[in-house]
Amino acid sequence: MISTASNAVITGAASGIGLGLAREAARRGLRLILADRDADALAAATAGLPDALAVPTDVTDRAAVDRLADIAFERFGRVDLLFNNAGIMATGFSWEIEPSRWDASLAVNVGGVLNGIRSFVPRMLKANVPARIVNTASVGGFNPSPLMAPYSATKFAVVSITESLKVELDMLDAPISVSLLAPGPVRSAIFDDPFSGEIHPATQKFVDALRGMIGQYGMDPEPFAAAVFDAIERGDYWIVPQPEALDPMLEQRHKMITERAQPRFDFLS
Ligand SMILES: NC(=O)c1ccc[n+]([C@@H]2O[C@H](COP(=O)([O-])OP(=O)(O)OC[C@H]3O[C@@H](n4cnc5c(N)ncnc54)[C@H](O)[C@@H]3O)[C@@H](O)[C@H]2O)c1
Repeated sequence: MISTASNAVITGAASGIGLGLAREAARRGLRLILADRDADALAAATAGLPDALAVPTDVTDRAAVDRLADIAFERFGRVDLLFNNAGIMATGFSWEIEPSRWDASLAVNVGGVLNGIRSFVPRMLKANVPARIVNTASVGGFNPSPLMAPYSATKFAVVSITESLKVELDMLDAPISVSLLAPGPVRSAIFDDPFSGEIHPATQKFVDALRGMIGQYGMDPEPFAAAVFDAIERGDYWIVPQPEALDPMLEQRHKMITERAQPRFDFLS
């Protein structure tokens, strides 16, 4: 489908994975609309790309995402690829993470994806031409982690919403394809400020370990994005550029549940 794709809309495009996707899309000749709530970083990101329009957008704002869709359909007449990619991290003990951080996690990581679906799918159905929606979850959307419950919960939700969306569109024989993107560690800004409230030493240790792991084993956004576009070219639903970060964990989780074993977490042991 991507061989006929000529344009893409990407949220969270000013940094990390979104910026990598934007650069790779530009390299492949796609026209772009890039959205992010950080208008300055977005302007800087867009400036380096040949045919990219920056549309500062907070994905938690339904009206703003509607406006983003209007701009995209007006400019392109159709949208070939939509990446619902914006996401934020929150770390700490579940009961200590500030309510505002919990709310923001739900609003960005789940609400942002829903807003993308609500604004773009009806317009895509009306256009009635091939298109693809790629929702960014995480390998963490398959395995809950302690000390980042808002992240785990919201990424589980993205996995679930994306599967529902895929089957619903199939039920209508719509020409809209769906992909679930599950990144493993990718070097980005997501762990720059994952705290809220007082930082418990266990949380600091956990974040330090994750930052170290991403620094050591993380992919850079550009090769990561190239793998994503290769998967889109193949028409994959499951886009898992780092299967080594997902498959062993899935197997262990499956075993834990079928054997009714106690949840545990080995990362820091
Ligand atoms: N980096 C990783 O290791 C990793 C792993 C798994 C999943 N992910 C997911 O990848 C996606 C991108 O994250 P990243 O790692 O590139 O992080 P990042 O922090 O580098 O980039 C996220 C971008 O989203 C933007 N954003 C945040 N809230 C927004 C909002 N309300 N509206 C619009 N834009 C908003 C930020 O300004 C930022 O530019 C996220 O959904 C994240 O959960 C990342």
